[in-house]
Amino acid sequence: MRYIFAVFALLVVLVVSVAGFRGQMSRRPPIELFPDMVRQPRVRPESYAEFFTNGFGSRLPVAGTIARDAAYQDLPLNTGRVPGTTNFVELSPVPMTAELLARGRDRFQISCLPCHGALADGKGITTKYGMTVIANLHDARIVQMGDGEIFNTITYGKNLMQGYGANIAIRDRWAIIAYVRALQLSQLGARDDVPPAQRAALR
Ligand code: HEC
Repeated sequence: MRYIFAVFALLVVLVVSVAGFRGQMSRRPPIELFPDMVRQPRVRPESYAEFFTNGFGSRLPVAGTIARDAAYQDLPLNTGRVPGTTNFVELSPVPMTAELLARGRDRFQISCLPCHGALADGKGITTKYGMTVIANLHDARIVQMGDGEIFNTITYGKNLMQGYGANIAIRDRWAIIAYVRALQLSQLGARDDVPPAQRAALR
């Protein structure tokens, strides 16, 4: 019986000491059992720091950094539209070069080929997995479409196609358009485009 009292008294002391003082204010620092990484040396913004040779805690932004709230540039390069209007530009603002075409081919084959197919005829592998109506980029409507509108389609998508603006850098979008134009041209050749001397070799 004496033991039971002793254990009971001990329990009371334990409960009061653990739970009894909760909510009480104390000016003493808390006991930290596992301080781990709670307190680390750090530099406050815009303050002195011995660590750097110029003594300045903040580092300069990387060259070419643009402020998040910098004015958005309403340029055909960024929007595919004639500045100040909602009209799409007819021609890409990026000059056509062999490098641009090669880059466009590379990017097209990563981002567009699975659906539109290597020839851009809309017969990509996804047609076998339930995606049935994929635009054939050789349709006269799309051949005649301005570069700016295709830029807009890549950026924001169109009907069933989602936008790829977040995945494809602006310059790469224009590169892809250049390559799509080359693919279109490859299907638009007429017999008369072939030099007469070689026409006989055509089937
Ligand atoms: C996941 C499949 C998929 C991918 C990837 C894809 N497209 Fe499409 N795209 C479609 C489908 C589906 C349509 C038809 C949309 C509709 O009219 O419903 C389409 C339509 C289009 C059109 C015609 C838009 C119009 O005005 O009718 C263009 C141009 C086009 N895609 C270009 C591209 C380019 C360039 C890429 C690569 C950056 C690309 N697409 C990637 C599925 C895809």
